[in-house]
Amino acid sequence: MVNTKVLGICGSPRKGNSLYLLEQALKAAKDVDHRSVETELYSMRGKTYNPCIACRFCKDHNGDCVHKDDFEDLRRHWLDADVIIYSVPVYHMSMPGQVKCFIDRLGNSMSGRFRSQLPEGVYALPKLFKIIGSIAQGIHIFSGQEHTITDLINHALIMQCIPATGDMWESYIGAGGWTVNLIDRNGFEKLAKGDDLGVKAAIKASRDLGKRSVELSKIIQSGILASKTLLEKDPIYHPVISMLEKRHAG
Ligand SMILES: Cc1cc2nc3c(=O)[nH]c(=O)nc-3n(C[C@H](O)[C@H](O)[C@H](O)COP(=O)(O)O)c2cc1C
Repeated sequence: MVNTKVLGICGSPRKGNSLYLLEQALKAAKDVDHRSVETELYSMRGKTYNPCIACRFCKDHNGDCVHKDDFEDLRRHWLDADVIIYSVPVYHMSMPGQVKCFIDRLGNSMSGRFRSQLPEGVYALPKLFKIIGSIAQGIHIFSGQEHTITDLINHALIMQCIPATGDMWESYIGAGGWTVNLIDRNGFEKLAKGDDLGVKAAIKASRDLGKRSVELSKIIQSGILASKTLLEKDPIYHPVISMLEKRHAG
């Protein structure tokens, strides 16, 4: 029975290094338990995510966005996942614009999306407790990887989710890497055949991140279900409890 859904979001506009590291993470996630873990890779490549225009349409329309583009499809996948692993290239010391557009709109749409599940007048966001892991890689060393991962961790916190990391020493706050000045889209794949320590660390960190994110999700989900009597007194937990009950009922 599948009770851990892992969504890998590749934030690159090309099939390249972000995809390579994400595949490492998703394979390790699946290997935690082939029976209960389902993984899906969602690529933002070729899709359109317009910027939020602050029109507040989503507040009164169940979180639906006024833009009709690829946002809603990815949001549906995001909401249905227990674990989300972002893998993004560093652009200008940060995440690519398309990823930022997606998370801006996702965050803003949440109060509209969950309003009907919270009591009248309560404008808090529900505790979603999804596990969010982050991978960021760029062409150069010390060129925005840590900053980008930190932005994604902040996104996880705002979304009332839990940021995950891999294992020390390769993974302090997620998985970071550089393609040793190679601009090639298959930089990591080429370098993986050599013995560059940084490349090996990025690959190991990505795998550890996938594995630990799934394990953490299982721990958190068991805790929520075990604490149901206590938590259900507060409506802020109702969306996650009802999602988990459906998931664990098969
Ligand atoms: C618009 C743009 C901005 C970039 N800015 C950075 C940067 O600030 N730091 C960096 O290390 N690499 C930067 N890069 C390089 C990419 O992060 C790097 O080539 C990465 O491996 C691409 O990942 P992908 O193959 O998944 O697309 C930039 C690339 C582009 C296209």
